Amino acid sequence: MSGARIKAPRGTFDVWGEEAGRRARLEAAARAILEGAGYERIETPAFEATELFARGVGESTDIVQKEMYTFEDGSGRSLTLRPEGTAPVCRAYVEHGMHKRAAPVKLWYLGSFFRYERAQAGRYRQFWQVGVEALGSEDPAVDAESITLMCALLEEMGVREGRLRVGSLGSGESRAEYRERLRAHLRAHEYELSAEVRGRIDSNPLRAFDSDHPGTRAVMESAPRLMHHLEREDREHFEAVCALLERAGVAHEVDDTLVRGLDYYTRTVFEYSSEALGAQSGVGGGGRYDGLVQELGGPRTPGIGWAAGVERMLLAGREPPARTGSLELYVGTSTGAPDAGAGRGAHAEARGAAFELLRDARSAGLSAQMEMAGRSPKGQRNHAHRVGARYLALVGADDRASLRDMEDGGERELAAAEVVHAVLQGLRRLS
Ligand code: HAM
Repeated sequence: MSGARIKAPRGTFDVWGEEAGRRARLEAAARAILEGAGYERIETPAFEATELFARGVGESTDIVQKEMYTFEDGSGRSLTLRPEGTAPVCRAYVEHGMHKRAAPVKLWYLGSFFRYERAQAGRYRQFWQVGVEALGSEDPAVDAESITLMCALLEEMGVREGRLRVGSLGSGESRAEYRERLRAHLRAHEYELSAEVRGRIDSNPLRAFDSDHPGTRAVMESAPRLMHHLEREDREHFEAVCALLERAGVAHEVDDTLVRGLDYYTRTVFEYSSEALGAQSGVGGGGRYDGLVQELGGPRTPGIGWAAGVERMLLAGREPPARTGSLELYVGTSTGAPDAGAGRGAHAEARGAAFELLRDARSAGLSAQMEMAGRSPKGQRNHAHRVGARYLALVGADDRASLRDMEDGGERELAAAEVVHAVLQGLRRLS
């Protein structure tokens, strides 16, 4: 009996083969850069209490209003697949009393996130992010270091043709006053705005800067800019961040219309976009969220971080040359497939000896693989070439083996028990 085929849900994808290798290289690069800068890895659950995102990310955001995968569990609790990582990290910071640790507490993560968005190239419903959060310091050096690390990772992944935009959303009263001023401007032009922006004049007027709607865009041209209404402390903080970025040689543009899709931001915000991506041009972004930990029931704690999309980094990045020759030994049998000449007994004997050689090679620290698809000796040689093996050993039933240097084609006969030593010597791992 055969059933109808079942496909992966829209907006999701499988990772395998070469793609899995590219992602592993990205993870290794992220780990080297971030752990080298003192960030520690954190893992949080794939789902959280819905309230964490409603309160943390903000009720008026697209994410909370239309993009969350929310469900009730068996006991009627409302849970949500995490749409982003900052609120969960802050939840963990409060839950584990991390404020008692030396500040700033620096954490990084790599994981999958879920948003019910219109699926298209570069925009998925399950996607991966690399992210960092630094909690406990409002020093502008933390902002500049965080941004510099994001740029270092993007550069390492070959992401170019990019623009880094930075801005400041200010804080406290000046921000509240500015919102009122912006609301007044929007109300004065209410009928030129898109229905969506009109519906959010009260709850989230800043998002109007992000609209593609032509009428809204025209209205925003003449809208007051928050950056012109910053309090002195916020302006000085922002100037210090920009000066440090200059010192670090990080190219950036100040954008006084930059707003982000999450409500928790205060002061510094930034976004890196790449022309190489087309419509979904945002590769990574983040900012400061000095009120979020307190909003989630913790002590007053400033924080800053960013996240970059794994799929977007790989789409926008230039592939570094694939490493070849990382497989040191391919082990096969000179008997080949059992029905291709040699008797079953002899083949079983040779396969046993080959399996032993595989174990010995691996315990000597060699990267080794063994033939497991019944190829003939010639087929095994072709396959060893295909997988980039440096040496090929074909073991016979008599505990003898032929060892082939796949680079120069040289071949010699020796006892199977001597193969590991010969390969190590060939690789100059023995003096
Ligand atoms: P975000 O801008 O919403 O920020 O997402 C960060 C990155 O995740 C985006 O720049 C993009 O590369 C990727 N991304 C977002 N949605 C999708 C999607 N549907 N498909 C593929 N990639 C996507 C945050 O999530 C904040 N938590 C960043 C942050 C950390 N701010 C402070 N700390």
